[in-house]
Order: sequence, then structure tokens, then C-alpha cells
Amino acid sequence: MGRVFVAGSINMDVVAFAGRHPKPGETVLGTRLGFFPGGKGANQAVAAAKLGADVRMVGRIGEDSFGDTLTEFLKQQGVDLRHVRRTAEQPSGTALIMVTETGENAIVVVAGANGLLTPEDLDDMDVQAGDLLLCELEIPLRTAEAFIQRGRDCGAVTVLNAAPAQKCGFLSLPDVLVVNETELAFFLGEDLAADDRESLLRAAERLRGGPEQSVIVTLGAEGALAVLPGGAVTVPGREVEVKDTTGAGDCFVGALAARLVAQDPMERAMEYANASASVCVQRPGAGPSLPTAEEVARVLAAGEEA
Ligand code: RIB
Repeated sequence: MGRVFVAGSINMDVVAFAGRHPKPGETVLGTRLGFFPGGKGANQAVAAAKLGADVRMVGRIGEDSFGDTLTEFLKQQGVDLRHVRRTAEQPSGTALIMVTETGENAIVVVAGANGLLTPEDLDDMDVQAGDLLLCELEIPLRTAEAFIQRGRDCGAVTVLNAAPAQKCGFLSLPDVLVVNETELAFFLGEDLAADDRESLLRAAERLRGGPEQSVIVTLGAEGALAVLPGGAVTVPGREVEVKDTTGAGDCFVGALAARLVAQDPMERAMEYANASASVCVQRPGAGPSLPTAEEVARVLAAGEEA
């Protein structure tokens, strides 16, 4: 089976839990503080590794105590760190996160060391056909573009999770583009008030770079939909008790990568990814909330019995 290369951010998430988000200028009393390993790239790498993929992370971590904790955590989760460099020029990436009682989050990310990842950092990756290359946009855009281009040149499957949304000139480059509803609206420059699946499918089609590209739109509790070379696909949501949605999108993307590299067809990989994310939202934090293959198998089996 091919390997999954993940180029992306590695952050320490400093999480304040509170009844609700403060308004601008307001102070609210929090209930709990947590420090959780996170970062979109690291979350995706851990998700894929816990679900059985052979994962190599490509990134930068600071030479600080957050960096020590993040390195240890990623190793424990089975992520290969040969392409991750410790760097003294910047502190480790950090995200300040507020999570409300309903599990909704608001996040500010400070890139730190992630911002130093360069295209030259990709030079010693031995990518082969059959591998899958996955990245997101919490690293410099020129590095993300070079990474996807590298995958294409080597005949690997390329997946871009275009998050967080920002002006980006290479959305048509990857084989698979994954966005959420907000990102879809941002990239199209449209107000997507419509919540019916038909309009969202049409919007996904407008974002599509060409007939060979697959565009997946994740819809949180409502599941996901996609326009694929073979037609449109929708995956229904799963009803669960939500504690913290942080990392759920990353969990979806990492699980999708794990199943695609194992040669699952896209629709089955999406169903699996959706089940994985439904486990993730039931636990606090990003990295530590990502499910094992056994947990996802139980969710899928329960769905089949129902
Ligand atoms: O997607 C969730 C992640 O976004 C968090 O773990 C945080 O680090 C930010 O990168």
C-alpha cells in the first residue's frame, strides 16, 4: 500500500471552554483550560495513522517545550517524523481556541515555525506512484503548491484541504479538493445562503477545476457531498452528542486519505470519513479526540444494523 505524505501545520492548541463566545471587547468567565496537540496538518496525519495508514509528516516545529510535547505526541501516534525539522528561528505554531457549551469553536492561529516550511523542505521526499499527498493552507502557499505539484509529477494522488480559506491560485491543481461550506462560499465569492443539497452541489461544480477533479464539501452535522468525475455523491450526517468540533474537519480529511490510499472508491471513503468525524466531535480537543479504526468500525457496524 502507498504512503500518505502530509505537509501541514503542527500546533499546540490552547483551549478555553466557556458557556458562550465573548462579544468584541467583552470578558466571559471560562470553565476549563486545556492544552491539546493540534494543527490541521498534524490532526490529519494522526487521523490517517490511527486508521492504519503509513504516514509521513512534513513540517516544522519550534525548539521549545510545546515543540517537545508535539514531537512526542506525533511519535506516539505512529506518525513518521523524518521530514519534520525543529527550528530555533520561530516558536512552535500555536492556536488560541474558544469552545462553547454546544461545542462550537472560534480559533486564532499563529503560524510560528509552520510559516518557515519551504519548497526546499520537500526535496528529500521519495514520492512514488501509489502514494497520496495531502496538505492544507496553514503553511506558506508556495510550499503547499510545490507539494501538490510534486505529487502530480510523481503520479501520486493529491488532496488539498483548502483551509483556512484564503486567496489561493492553485485550487484546480489537486485531484481532490476538500472545503467546508464557509470555504466554498469564500472561494466562489458568493453568499451561499442555500442549505439545500442541490444548490450546494451546483456550487461545488462551479468551484471544480475540471472534469477530472473531485470537489468534496463537508457539512458538519449534515454529512458531506461531492462532485466527482463519475457524478454527484451525498453522505448523510450522523446524530451524535457534540462536545467539541475542533479537528472534526481534519479528522474527515485524514480518514479520507487513509481510505483512498488503501484504494477504496471515493463514496466509500467519504462514508468512512464521515463516521470518523462523528466520533471525533464527541470528545474534547483536536489530536487526542481522533478515533481508532476499531471505533470507526463499531460506528459503521451500528449504522448497518439500524
Ligand atoms: O482544524 C482545527 C485546527 O485548526 C486546530 O487543531 C488548530 O491548531 C488549527 O490549526
